[in-house]
Amino acid sequence: MPLPDHGMNRDELFEQVSQRKSADAKWEQGRTFSLIYPTGRQDVDDVLMEANRLYLYENALNPIRFPSLGQMELDIVEMTGALVNLPTAGGGTMASGGSESILMSVLVNRDRAQRDRGIEPAKGNIVYPTSAHAAFAKAAHYLELEARPIPIKADFTADVDAMADAIDDNTVLVMGSAYGYPHGVMDPIEDLSNLALERGIGFHSDTCVGAFVLPFLERLGYDIPPYDFRLPGVTEMSCDVHKYGYATKGASVILHRNSEWIGLQYFLYTSWPSGLYGTPTVAGARPAGPIAAAWSVMNYLGMDGYLELMRGLMATTKKFRDGIEAIPQLRIMGNPIGPLLTFTSDEIDTYAVCDLMDDRGWNLDRNTNPNGLHMMISPLHEKYVEEFLVDLRWAVANHGESRGIEARYN
Ligand SMILES: Cc1ncc(COP(=O)(O)O)c(C=O)c1O
Repeated sequence: MPLPDHGMNRDELFEQVSQRKSADAKWEQGRTFSLIYPTGRQDVDDVLMEANRLYLYENALNPIRFPSLGQMELDIVEMTGALVNLPTAGGGTMASGGSESILMSVLVNRDRAQRDRGIEPAKGNIVYPTSAHAAFAKAAHYLELEARPIPIKADFTADVDAMADAIDDNTVLVMGSAYGYPHGVMDPIEDLSNLALERGIGFHSDTCVGAFVLPFLERLGYDIPPYDFRLPGVTEMSCDVHKYGYATKGASVILHRNSEWIGLQYFLYTSWPSGLYGTPTVAGARPAGPIAAAWSVMNYLGMDGYLELMRGLMATTKKFRDGIEAIPQLRIMGNPIGPLLTFTSDEIDTYAVCDLMDDRGWNLDRNTNPNGLHMMISPLHEKYVEEFLVDLRWAVANHGESRGIEARYN
């Protein structure tokens, strides 16, 4: 559409915006199980809105002009680092999301491998389980590294022996997920990071979803296998505040065991007429709202606030899990550790079930290989468990043929 000749009045404008928005996912009604991580608490939402309002116009590109933003970023990195036991020699930066944190980690490891091991970037490869987030394949693509996805085991965890076989002299990074997006299961981070350590290769523990879950589960007494910088082989961790840290979108942290490596992340440039230009991540101009929101929500909730939310969230997750397991045709895939689970069936077509759930307004994501339905559970879902399970039981009892992908998007 062309730019309108004349501006609209405000009422008409927002009437149109609301109309357009009406077809979007009804996440406020607990219908969405990925993309958004609502606490369901008005007080938390108010904090996020006020922080975003206060920093609507500022630009995080320049922390000298906006020192409050620079300091908030340092605080967020430090608070996050403390949660995952970053050593004092370590450091990190914020990024716009998990994918950018991962891109920065792959970049740093590619360039570190060139500097320290003489591996030409064009010859480098990264080794990861097929359950790794797509951001690793994307980073390999952008940075022209060979991607080596390694098939996972029947329990959906990384296959350590197969990963060991795939590593060679040109491997610049090995990774595992703690925990992974597709099934919510923990990879054997200790064994995988040891593989990398023994060979002098970087190891990325991807805790984009786990960083604001696992530290709290540990404190609540859950038995959590090691996954963070307490393992000597872990060199990088990605930690998204905009997932279970409950910040609004645009807030992730990339941490390095050695703060000296952050230099490899920076782009610094002086050969243009506008003086020194430097950025730690891909973006130039950067929104300030996500930084203010992340800092504010972390300080508003504090350790006890996160623990309280986590206690409730695990109780809600158990209700979903018990309800799904009570449906004879369904089974949970693998052993999910936190508030993320996927279920499948050996008897019925779960995509056909998902079609009926779509009709009732529930947005589940479809897993492949094998087919399954994916749920990231948030505190808001507490109010909707029973309603969901009633509809799921109905959908399992009444499903027909799966309508196929065209029907879903037309
Ligand atoms: C384990 C894991 N890593 C990375 C990402 C990518 O994060 P983002 O979508 O913020 O780029 C996700 C997103 O869900 C994830 O679950």
